[in-house]
Amino acid sequence: MSHSPSDHVPLQLPNRTRRSESIPRRLLAEGKYHLLPVYALLTTSDLAREGIRNSGSFRFADHVYRNEPSGRYGVGRVVDRVLLRLRGTRSMRNRFFHSRREILRAVRETGAAGSADQIVVLSVPCGIARDLFEVAEILHRDEPALYENVRFVGIDLDNEPLDLSRELTKDHPAFDFRCADALKAESFPVGVDVIVSLGFGEFLSDGMLYDFYRRCHSSLNNGGRFITSASRRDRISDYLARELAELYAHYRSAEQLTDLLKSAGFVKIQTTRDEVGFQTLAVAEKGGGGGGGP
Ligand SMILES: C[S@@+](CC[C@H](N)C(=O)[O-])C[C@H]1O[C@@H](n2cnc3c(N)ncnc32)[C@H](O)[C@@H]1O
Repeated sequence: MSHSPSDHVPLQLPNRTRRSESIPRRLLAEGKYHLLPVYALLTTSDLAREGIRNSGSFRFADHVYRNEPSGRYGVGRVVDRVLLRLRGTRSMRNRFFHSRREILRAVRETGAAGSADQIVVLSVPCGIARDLFEVAEILHRDEPALYENVRFVGIDLDNEPLDLSRELTKDHPAFDFRCADALKAESFPVGVDVIVSLGFGEFLSDGMLYDFYRRCHSSLNNGGRFITSASRRDRISDYLARELAELYAHYRSAEQLTDLLKSAGFVKIQTTRDEVGFQTLAVAEKGGGGGGGP
C-alpha cells in the first residue's frame, strides 16, 4: 500500500530533529528577522522545503542523490539548482557514489572468491534504496551471471520509503524490503555479505552508533564488508540547517569514525575524504575472512 505525504503520520525517528510547529514564528520570536527572507526564498526550492519540513528525511537525501532541480513559481527551480551545486550538497552526493562503487566492488570480489551461496547485500536504513537499485541495474546489464547470484535487502522503519523502494526496484525480483527498527538486534538478518548504512549515524550519539555497528558486525559473515560514511561540519550549512530546518546532526572526524568501527570489532578499516571535503567515506571488514583477523 502506498501513502501520500498528507496521510503520512510522522514517526518518531532520530533523523526527524525538528521540534517547532512554525519556523517563521520561532524566527520572529527569537528576533532573527534577517533569516525570514532567506526562509521565504528557500521554501520555493523542493530540496530546501523538504529539509525544512522533515529535517534529515529520505526524500531530502534522495533529492540530493538524484540531482534533478525542481521547485515552485519558476524561481524555485533556480534556487534548487543553486542548492544542489553547493559544496555541502555535492559532498553529500559523494557518499551515494561511494556506496554504489563499494557495493559493486564487494559483490564482485565476493563473487570472484567463488562462494556457492547467494551474496546478500543489506542497506540499513535504506530510505529510497537508489544505491542498491543502481547496483542491480549495472550488474543486470554487465554481469548477468553475478546479478543472478545477488540478493538485496532493505530495512527501514518507515513504510513510505519502503513502498517507494519497491516501486523503484519492481523489475528486479531479488529485492526484499522490510519494515523494522535498525536499533533492535532482531531486525537484522544473519549471513549477510555486505552492509551499507548512509545518513543514519549522523543522528545517533556515540553510544547508540556503537550499538548499531555491533549489530551490523554480528549480522555479517566472516570477511563481510561494512560500507558507511560520516559528515564533517560545514559552518554555513550547519548554521542554516539548525536555524531554518532545526536539523541537529552529530559530526565526526575520520579518527572518531575509525575508533568507533574498531571498538565495534571491525578490521581493515579504510577511510578517505571525499573530493569536496565534508564526508569521510569508510569501508571496514569483519575479520575471519581469510587473512583479516581482528
Ligand atoms: C536520511 S535517510 C537515510 C536513508 C538512506 N540510507 C539514504 O542515504 O538516503 C534516514 C532514513 O532512516 C530511517 N530510519 C530512521 N530511524 C530508523 C530506525 N530506528 N530504524 C529503521 N529506519 C530508521 C528513516 O525512516 C529514513 O528513511
